[in-house]
Amino acid sequence: MSDPDLKTRLDHLIRPQQVHRDVYTSPEIYRLEMKHLFPNCWVYIGHDSQTPNKGDYITAQIGDQPLIMVRHNDDEIHVLYNRCPHKGTKIVIDRAGNTGKFFRCPYHAWSFKTNGCLLAIPLKKGYENTGLEDTEAAHGMAPVGAMKNYRGFVFARLAPEGIGFDEFFGDSLSSLDNMVDRSPVGRLNVAGAPLRFMHNCNWKMLVENQTDTCHPMVAHESSAGTAVKIWEEMDKPEGTPTPPAMEIIAPFMSPYEFFENMGIRTWPNGHGHTGVHHSIHSDYSAVPGYVEAMNEAYGPERAQQILGENRHNTVYFPNIMIKGPIQQLRNFIALGPDKTLVESWIFRLEGAPEELTARTAMYNRMINAPTSMVGHDDLEMYERAQEGLMADGLEWVNIQRLYEEDEDFTKEAVLNGTTERQMRNQFDAWKRFMLGGAA
Ligand code: FES
Ligand SMILES: [Fe+2]
Repeated sequence: MSDPDLKTRLDHLIRPQQVHRDVYTSPEIYRLEMKHLFPNCWVYIGHDSQTPNKGDYITAQIGDQPLIMVRHNDDEIHVLYNRCPHKGTKIVIDRAGNTGKFFRCPYHAWSFKTNGCLLAIPLKKGYENTGLEDTEAAHGMAPVGAMKNYRGFVFARLAPEGIGFDEFFGDSLSSLDNMVDRSPVGRLNVAGAPLRFMHNCNWKMLVENQTDTCHPMVAHESSAGTAVKIWEEMDKPEGTPTPPAMEIIAPFMSPYEFFENMGIRTWPNGHGHTGVHHSIHSDYSAVPGYVEAMNEAYGPERAQQILGENRHNTVYFPNIMIKGPIQQLRNFIALGPDKTLVESWIFRLEGAPEELTARTAMYNRMINAPTSMVGHDDLEMYERAQEGLMADGLEWVNIQRLYEEDEDFTKEAVLNGTTERQMRNQFDAWKRFMLGGAA
């Protein structure tokens, strides 16, 4: 399909207030996302604390492209295609490991430095005078188009040319900054493996749901609502403190007004967050020693500024969400038009009380695990939607709550917290990056 054809096709699928069901269901659209959308965007690869030592690597992906993130012997992180330049064999298959000083292909033992450069070929004299040095293979393992380690968070763009990191994220980086600044020493460390949860639905449903504030009190009524009811009706002594699990689950039952007033901010290129003024994380109990450590590190004024920010979910287009106040990152990994692997990662705040990590881990188990009380409510909604979208009676998905004419997504905006503007913002970015990323 030539570009003008693609533009016409996408113009037909994305309207200002609604999108065609094909964007969630069509294998052809999915293939085009793999070919155009993901390579043109800056996509999250991993956190550099996952590879603390030289030779440490993890495997990752952008769209359907297999990648390796590795720490080279100069301590820099590199992101390479997981593909031998000889005959294509994947160099490593584990999710994580240490390769020592070099990678060695398991097929014919070509070896590569941990920055990808070709190191050695067995029986190399067989290539003498064959012009090997003029081939792609001589360059070793291919690097991605561009990469950036932003305060420990590693992102990459596959396309050799395209939008720069700073332009792509702009002011949305303030959410990542806030998450990192919550460490008294400004440093996060991944805490263990992520919780992995397979979803039989399109990846965009998960991304959209991160700023869908009209669903919690409905879809989570059976789980959160029941928990709240049991706690309220429980015969307990006066002044019994609210247990941490209740502090986590009760806000899911907040009324519409709570979500309307929390506000939503959208930034250019599909990024945005809920919780401009307050969020479901605003009222957690203080953890002893934490504020003191922050005051000590930053001074009371700056510490208050950092901790006063209670952003709820920040979506980084195309496919991650972070929760700054509880140091969590969710990666929505597309595996097919109707298949998405969700990884929910948590981070430890270096220099802060370990109790914070325990609370975050509890949140992850309660809300995001396959055994979660809450996450499967969402899963059921996504899977029902994926099935319902196959119904032929209607073709369009509606995203027009609080729509305003001539919305300008090139400018930051703060709106009522139940707007679906962030979903519209994502589809505006989706269309542009499917077509290369130009404004
Ligand atoms: S395929 Fe890797 S060395 Fe031959
Ligand atoms: Fe939900």
